[in-house]
Amino acid sequence: MTDPRTTLPEGFLWGASTAAHQTEGANHNSDWWELEHLALEQGPGGHIEEPSGDACDSFHRWPEDMDLLAGFGFTDYRFSMEWARIEPAPGEISRAAIDHYRRMVEGAHQRGLRPLVTLNHFTTPRWFAARGSWYGEDAADRFARFAEAAAPVYADGVDHLCTINEPNMVAALLPVLAQAAAGTEAGGATEQLATTGIPEPDPHLTEALTRAHRRAVEAVKSHVPHVRTGWSVSVQACQALEGAEAAADAYSRPRQDVFLEAARDDDWLGVQTYTRIVVGPDGLLPVPDDAERTLTGWEFYPEALGEAVRRTAELAPGVPLVVTENGIATGDDTRRVAYTSGALAGLADAMADGIDVRGYFHWTALDNYEWGSYRPTFGLIAVDRTTFARTPKPSAGWLGAAGRDRRWPTA
Ligand code: FCB
Repeated sequence: MTDPRTTLPEGFLWGASTAAHQTEGANHNSDWWELEHLALEQGPGGHIEEPSGDACDSFHRWPEDMDLLAGFGFTDYRFSMEWARIEPAPGEISRAAIDHYRRMVEGAHQRGLRPLVTLNHFTTPRWFAARGSWYGEDAADRFARFAEAAAPVYADGVDHLCTINEPNMVAALLPVLAQAAAGTEAGGATEQLATTGIPEPDPHLTEALTRAHRRAVEAVKSHVPHVRTGWSVSVQACQALEGAEAAADAYSRPRQDVFLEAARDDDWLGVQTYTRIVVGPDGLLPVPDDAERTLTGWEFYPEALGEAVRRTAELAPGVPLVVTENGIATGDDTRRVAYTSGALAGLADAMADGIDVRGYFHWTALDNYEWGSYRPTFGLIAVDRTTFARTPKPSAGWLGAAGRDRRWPTA
C-alpha cells in the first residue's frame, strides 16, 4: 500500500504555471499593453511602475523554458494562449498565432510535459476592451467564438483546459483598472490584497464572466468533447476571529464562494492560493506587524493552501480540484522552499483526508511581469532583464524532482 503522504497519486499533475502576457513579451495588441502605456503617460504614483516590454521573451524562447522545466523533472506545464494574438481584430483569426500555440502543445509533449492550457489569463484584445470588455453586450459570444477558433490548439494532446483565470479577481479589479485608464486610480492591484483586501466584485460582472465561462465550455466541448474544462479561482484562506463568522462569510461570498459554487458542474476546478485573510467584527484585519511578508506584501502563510482546498471542496462537492497556482514572491530562494514545502504538506494532508486533488502547478516558472512591475519575483528561474538569460534557482530542481520521483518533496 502506498502512503498518500509520501507518494504522489497515479496521474497526479506536477507542473509550473505561466501566463502569456507576463512572459511572452511584446503583447502590443492587448488591453494591458495599452493600459501600461497610458499609466506611464500619466506619470508616477499609480500601480503600474513599468511596462511589460519584452517580458521574458518566451514568445520566442518557450522551447528553452520547456527544456528547463522537463529537465527539473516536472511532468506538466500550464501556459495561456493570448487572445489578442489569435484574434487581432474582431473575427479575424491569425493562422500563424494558432500554429504558434499548437507548436507549444506539441513541443510540451515532445519533452514529456502535459500541457494545461488557459484560454484567458487577464488580458484581452484592445478591440474587446474598447467594446466594454466583459461588460460588453456580446462579450460571452465573442469569447465563445474565440474558444472555438482556438480549437486546433487543444484538439489533440490537451486534457485540461482552463477557460478564465481568476474570474473573481477580474470581477473585482476590472473597475479599478478602468479607473487607472481614466487617470483616477487610487491604489495598487497586487498589493491591494495585503492592505485593504480586494474590492467587492460588481455582481453584473460576476454574472457576465460566469456566462462567458459556460459559453466557452460549450464551444470547446462541441469541437473537442474529451477536453476537461474548468476555471481557476483565486481562493485565499479566509479566517474569522471569534464572533466574526458572519463578517468573514460576507467578505468571502461575493469574492470567492460564488465563483467556486459556479463550478459545480465543471470537470475540474482550479484553486490558486497565496495567503490568508483574517476577518474581525469590523472587517479585514491588517497583516500583523511581526508577521513575515513576501515581496507583494502578503503574509507568509503556507498553511493557506490546505485550508483553501478544504474550503473549496465544501463549496464544490465532488468536483476534482487542481491547484493551478501557488507560490511566493521572494528574493530569498530558501524561503520559497520553506513556503512551498509547508503548502504541500497541507495539501497532502487534505488529500489524505479524502479531498480529491488531481494536480499541483507552482506559480511560476520564470521571474516575470507581475502586473505593473518586475519587482515581485515569483519564479523558479531568474531571468536577466537585458539578455533574457535563464538561471534556475535551487528551488526549481528541488520541486521538479518530485515529479520525476513521484514523491512529495520535503524541505
Ligand atoms: C495570480 C495571477 C498570476 C500572478 C499571481 C501572483 O493572481 O493569476 O498571474 O499574478 O497571482
